[in-house]
Amino acid sequence: MKQTEEHSFLKEARAPLKGVQVPLEEDQAPLKELDEWDDFVATRYRQGKSEEEFRNYKADANPTVTEFYRQNHKYQTLDFVLKKKAEYCGLTRGKKSIWEMAEYLNTLVDDSDPDTDVTQIEHLLQTAEAIRKDGHPRWFILAGFLHDLGKVLCLYGEPQWAVVGDTFPTGCAYSDQVVFPEFFAANPDSGKPEYQTQYGIYEQDCGMDNVHLSFGHDEYIFRVTEKYLPEEAQYMLRYHSFYAAHRHGAYRHLMNDHDEAMFEWVRKFNPYDLYSKGRERPNMKEILPYYQDLVSEFFPDKIDW
Ligand SMILES: [Fe+2]
Ligand SMILES: [Fe+2]
Repeated sequence: MKQTEEHSFLKEARAPLKGVQVPLEEDQAPLKELDEWDDFVATRYRQGKSEEEFRNYKADANPTVTEFYRQNHKYQTLDFVLKKKAEYCGLTRGKKSIWEMAEYLNTLVDDSDPDTDVTQIEHLLQTAEAIRKDGHPRWFILAGFLHDLGKVLCLYGEPQWAVVGDTFPTGCAYSDQVVFPEFFAANPDSGKPEYQTQYGIYEQDCGMDNVHLSFGHDEYIFRVTEKYLPEEAQYMLRYHSFYAAHRHGAYRHLMNDHDEAMFEWVRKFNPYDLYSKGRERPNMKEILPYYQDLVSEFFPDKIDW
């Protein structure tokens, strides 16, 4: 899709980001583009791969992806998560439509190759279209369209490690089912014994809603959209990057029966996220009216972000 016209708010929203410079002890944007992480995950779970091949995921991770995980595991502490939830989950950044945000997210494509890389909106539509072709309900298709909109966090100035990456619970022992578990040694929470027991600050079967997962685009888009979507869709959005749980069955000791039932939907959603990228580019002109209808069915014109 060509970006000829920009909503005026996009220009305003982008302008203040230019000068944002956080003092860094290292380059906190090791990924050339955010999608490098998504591509790594898709390769990691390539269809037909055996469990043993999966265990060898490091072979699929290039040095930038590895560096990205090193930072993600080092900096995502319980304190950090609580701080970011306080900052973003009150949805105080103003009212915008879903479409305005989708176009804003599309400005993330700068470094990618326009011939081979799909734009952010194209990824969302490819995911949604794959769900639609399989005859799933409208809310499921909508979840596909919305699921990565939370990546606008990156445009708010958040470092890559606070936007994407496999999510994991903070405040309790790390599972070795999370990729690159060795990088957790550098996380300050590793030195806090009260956070390193199996349950940590939580209780058995306390329910995922009480667990503070590492912060990122999943949590943010869940918070923005939760009151407009059925619960199955909420779970899809909130936990789609929680691979240790939905692919490997880790952290079941924190889940309640309701989570167990709802994670079936997270698992149903995952293949569409992982495997729709290789498909043909969506014909935007043809399908946009359908998605405009779909979005209007569930959302008012503007919502809080
Ligand atoms: Fe995602
Ligand atoms: Fe995605």
